[in-house]
Amino acid sequence: MDEVKVLYGSTTGNTESAARQIADAFGTKPVNIADATPADLDAALLILGSSTWGVGELQGDWTAAISRLANTNLTGRKVAVFGLGDQEGFGDSFCDAMGELAQTALSRGAILIGRTSAEGYRHIASTAEEDGFFCGLALDHDNEPERTPDRIAAWVTQLKQEMNQP
Ligand SMILES: Cc1cc2nc3c(=O)[nH]c(=O)nc-3n(C[C@H](O)[C@H](O)[C@H](O)COP(=O)(O)O)c2cc1C
Repeated sequence: MDEVKVLYGSTTGNTESAARQIADAFGTKPVNIADATPADLDAALLILGSSTWGVGELQGDWTAAISRLANTNLTGRKVAVFGLGDQEGFGDSFCDAMGELAQTALSRGAILIGRTSAEGYRHIASTAEEDGFFCGLALDHDNEPERTPDRIAAWVTQLKQEMNQP
């Protein structure tokens, strides 16, 4: 079993770029969910990323693949999620797809790590947010791309710490 797998769905490349940066930090290569094999869902830490499309919907390749995640037993397995969204244009459904990935993983018994504070974002509502925290890392390439590298670096550090906690 691999230590870390990064799986992403991306339509215009923004989530793919974030996935590459995250995977790089773990010394691995990201896998497009459209090309993923069952073995790709088998890792000590699964990092799952999706942009949000429509109004609050999963990215298209994830829509096709979510049943595979829903059919995978993740009991006791660590999972982290990240999402790309647009907090200005879609402030009522900001990064909702990330919330769906998290809910699906939790429903299969995963241990979710990598929650982050929602402070400093300007969205109105998100199903990925609860009590001031996102279920994972929310990135907004449309409005604040300059913040992405630091957000990813801090999150990777956090994940590396949480990975080693019981
Ligand atoms: C038609 C359309 C619908 C979108 N819907 C949402 C949405 O509901 N929530 C959100 O946070 N972002 C939404 N976005 C923004 C995208 O998620 C964002 O541009 C993202 O960076 C795209 O990433 P990708 O290139 O990896 O697919 C939408 C963008 C478009 C063009």
